[in-house]
Amino acid sequence: MHEKSIELLNRAVADELMAVHQYMYFHFHCDDQGFELLSNLFRKTAIEEMMHVELLAERILFLKGEVEMKSGGDVQKLHSVREMLELATRMEESSARDYNLWANECAANADAKTKKLFEQLVDDEERHFDQYDTEIGNLEQFGAQYLALQSIERSKNLASGAPPA
Ligand SMILES: [Fe+2]
Ligand SMILES: [Fe+2]
Repeated sequence: MHEKSIELLNRAVADELMAVHQYMYFHFHCDDQGFELLSNLFRKTAIEEMMHVELLAERILFLKGEVEMKSGGDVQKLHSVREMLELATRMEESSARDYNLWANECAANADAKTKKLFEQLVDDEERHFDQYDTEIGNLEQFGAQYLALQSIERSKNLASGAPPA
């Protein structure tokens, strides 16, 4: 009866798992290059996407489906901060668009609870989009200084013995 919902929820799981992998990859590389703020932002967002997987999985199991746990694609090995942020905004935009459509589809299939879950995810993905888009704006406005300040911030934290965020 809820086969369509289960299929859409599994597509969302694949999308979220891909985002977890991609953002953790960006986290490692920003950390390696000393970009403290961006490294933390990618890590924090990856953890939120992992929590989305959990919400989706709980709903799939409630509907007596199987959680496929397949990633939606391979990690793109980008190392430039601008390319990372551009890909991340595109990913968030496309998730928000899909989840909006799928919320409507679930409503049409009389599955209000799954519809609500997709709407809740749209809120989060739009917030993620906004965070990444803000960083693109900072990068455009301040350029190399923006990245240099992040490295200096890290050095200050290390020198003061503050634990990593
Ligand atoms: Fe998500
Ligand atoms: Fe997201």
